[in-house]
Amino acid sequence: MLKKFLIAPGPTPVPAEVLLEIAKPVMHHRTAEFSAIFAEARNGLKPLFGTSQDVIILLSSGTAAMEASIVNTLSQNDRILVIDGGKFGERWGSIAKKYGLTVDTLKYTWGESAKAADVEAHLNKFPDTKAVFIQGSETSTTVYHPLKEIAAVVRKFDNTIFVVDGITSVGVYDTKMDEWGIDIMLSGSQKAFMLPPGLAFITLSQKAWKMTESSTLPKFYLNLATELKNQKKDTTAWTPGVNLIYGLTKSLQMMNEEGLENIYKRHAICAEATRKALTALGLKLLAVDSPSNAATGVFMPEGIDAVKFEYYMREKVGITFAGGQDDLKGKVIRVSHLGYHGLFDTITAISAIEMGLKVFGYNVQLGKGVAACEEVFAAHLPKA
Ligand SMILES: Cc1ncc(COP(=O)(O)O)c(C=O)c1O
Repeated sequence: MLKKFLIAPGPTPVPAEVLLEIAKPVMHHRTAEFSAIFAEARNGLKPLFGTSQDVIILLSSGTAAMEASIVNTLSQNDRILVIDGGKFGERWGSIAKKYGLTVDTLKYTWGESAKAADVEAHLNKFPDTKAVFIQGSETSTTVYHPLKEIAAVVRKFDNTIFVVDGITSVGVYDTKMDEWGIDIMLSGSQKAFMLPPGLAFITLSQKAWKMTESSTLPKFYLNLATELKNQKKDTTAWTPGVNLIYGLTKSLQMMNEEGLENIYKRHAICAEATRKALTALGLKLLAVDSPSNAATGVFMPEGIDAVKFEYYMREKVGITFAGGQDDLKGKVIRVSHLGYHGLFDTITAISAIEMGLKVFGYNVQLGKGVAACEEVFAAHLPKA
C-alpha cells in the first residue's frame, strides 16, 4: 500500500467530517431547509474575511471570482494597476485585457513581495487608476504581499478600489478587510477552507458596490448585484453547489471550534518549521523578503530536476507536492501548509524531502530537517 498525502497548495486535503457531510442526500435548493444551511454558511464566512459585508458564495473556481471583481466594477478602457509578482498576478492582467481595460503593471521578480511605496508612486502619477489588483499570497512564488500597507495607500485615493485575490491568504492570515480598507476580497474553497474545489467567495465594500452601479462590462452568471439580491434572502440566483454548502457549514464549524487565531498560528508555525528545516538541509527558499504561511517554495539542489523529484515523490512515495510554474518549472517544489494540515503533516513532508534528496544523490544528513522542525514544534506543544 502507498498511503497518500496531499501536501500541495490546492486542492488540499478534506477532513472525513466534511466529506461525510458532503455525502448527505442532495436536497432541493428552493426550500426553507436549504436556506437555513445557506444562511449559516454566509454568516460563518464573514469573520474569515474580516468584514461585516455580505460574502457572496459562487459555484465556480476562484478565477471566476477574480473575473467577477473586474466585470462588476469596471468599464471598457478604464485604467487599472496590476501587481504582478507571479503566475496569479499575471492572471489579473490577462483577464483585464480580455475586457479591453488599460492595464498598467507593477512587475516584481518572482520571489519578491510588492512594496507599498511603488504603488503610491504609481497612483500619484496616474490618479485616474480605477482599481489596484493584487494577491494576498502569490501561490506560484510563495510570497505574501503587504496588504495592510498597500490598502493604506489605496484608500487615500477616493476613486480607486483595492482588490485582493485572497485565494491562499483567507483562512491563513488575519485580514481585516473593513478596518484596513480592502474593497474586494475573494477566495476559493479548495485552499484553507478544507473543502473540495467548486466554491468561490467574494465580498465588496460599499465603495466597490458604488462602482458596480456605473460598470458597463458584460456579465451574466457573474452579475454580483443579481447574486446579492438573492443571497440576502438566503437563496441563490442559479442552482447552488448544494452538497458543497453542506460541507462548508461543517468546515466553518470546525474552524470556529479551533478558533481563527489558532488557525492563523498553526499555519505560521508549520511555515516557519518548513523554512527552518529546508534551510538546515542547505536548500534555498524561493521567497526572498516575505515568505507566505500558505506554502513554501524551495529550489532543488543543482543537478536535481524538480519535475522528476516531484513525480518520484507522488508516484513512488505517495506524497504530492506542487512543482514550479513557468521559469521555475524543474527548479522548485512547493510544500503546502494550507487548511487541514497539522504539525505532523509538515514533519512527513520534510522527512520525505530528506529521504528523496538522498535517493537523488544529494549529500544530506538524514534527520537534520526533521530535527529543525521538531525544535519549532516542541516549543508549541501543550503542557503535559
Ligand atoms: C492566488 C491564487 N489565485 C488564483 C488561483 C486560481 O484559482 P482557481 O484555480 O480556483 O480558479 C489560485 C489557484 O491556485 C491561486 O492560488
